Amino acid sequence: MNVLLTGGAGFIGSNLVRLLLAERPGWRLVVLDKLTYAGNAENLAELEGHPRYRFVRGDICNGELVAEVMRSERIDAVMHLAAESHVDRSILAPAVFIDTNVRGTQVLLEAARELGVQRFLHVSTDEVYGSLGPTGLFTELTPLDPSSPYSASKASSDLLALAYAHTFALPVVVTRCSNNYGPFQFPEKLIPLMIANAVRDRPLPVYGDGMNVRDWIHVEDHCRGLLAALELGEPGQVYNFGASSERHNLDIVRQVLKLLGKPESLITYVKDRLGHDRRYAIDSSKAQARLGWAPRHRFEAALGETVAWYVEHRAWWERILTGEYLKYYEQQYGARR
Ligand code: NAD
Ligand code: TYD
Repeated sequence: MNVLLTGGAGFIGSNLVRLLLAERPGWRLVVLDKLTYAGNAENLAELEGHPRYRFVRGDICNGELVAEVMRSERIDAVMHLAAESHVDRSILAPAVFIDTNVRGTQVLLEAARELGVQRFLHVSTDEVYGSLGPTGLFTELTPLDPSSPYSASKASSDLLALAYAHTFALPVVVTRCSNNYGPFQFPEKLIPLMIANAVRDRPLPVYGDGMNVRDWIHVEDHCRGLLAALELGEPGQVYNFGASSERHNLDIVRQVLKLLGKPESLITYVKDRLGHDRRYAIDSSKAQARLGWAPRHRFEAALGETVAWYVEHRAWWERILTGEYLKYYEQQYGARR
């Protein structure tokens, strides 16, 4: 089987590429990635020359390129992960989120339809459901109620993907996952940002009161879910993934400090994110029952392994914390102090 994987140079994509090459020896993978600030060729460097892997640098909004890659590589299935993925950036500059997440998804869906691709996995997020109160869980039937430009763009792309399933019988499967953590995550997201700052004894910027809740899942568990959804998911269906690991942000920041032996005095409360969703929590029982999937990693142990990975791979994230990142960091955090 020939699989086109968009966004393969990013955090989840690069973990997924490694998992698929190891677990599906009959598959050939073609990665299409624009290498934006978040895409990092280094994440896949060890695979150069691999006989079942090809990297194509390009934009998913480029319809001619997308059609050419799908045709020439005889693509059977698409796993679509390419996206602008950071909420804070979507507040600073929303337009590119519409280009990549909405229009780029439509370009891929159209090319897949024209070429008669057998499976289209659209990788989405629980953020499309909006924010929860103190109780309750998101199910696949929870109405879409996105709050940020990021989540609104993802909800739009979900609806387009499902419309292609309904209107054109394109075999689309949509997945919605909670917050991921693990190796190769870009250090603008909560966990790697806090680790990178704590290691260097820099302030840890906690938004608002630090009591917002996210439901954490290890990236490898998410990737196994994506594989199961591709192989066993029913066209036109949505599957939620999460690992029932709800934590307050402050709790995570404290755990990171403890694991690194750093003082809590590094915690700095900063101005809250605009429109900050209070709580996310996922009911993944449909995926568990229909896809035979279950998370394997337990949060506290896996957070320890993740912190150790970032300590060991300091050169990887230090190379990222230059140029564009410094500009973003100043724009995002400079005015918040
Ligand atoms: P990421 O930001 O680490 O990686 C995104 C990748 O997409 C990068 O390699 C980037 O170069 C590429 N890309 C961006 N715009 C592109 C374009 N126009 N054309 C081609 N490539 C482009 O993101 P991630 O955290 O790995 O997320 C991957 C997917 O999973 C996204 O669709 C995201 O919405 C979804 N998701 C993420 C999480 C999470 O916690 N990180 C949770 C649920 C769902
Ligand atoms: P993030 O990793 O950006 O994921 P998302 O917003 O998509 O859930 O943020 C996770 C939580 O951590 C969210 O409630 C915002 C908070 N946060 C901070 O308190 N400080 C930070 O510097 C960042 C990046 C996030």
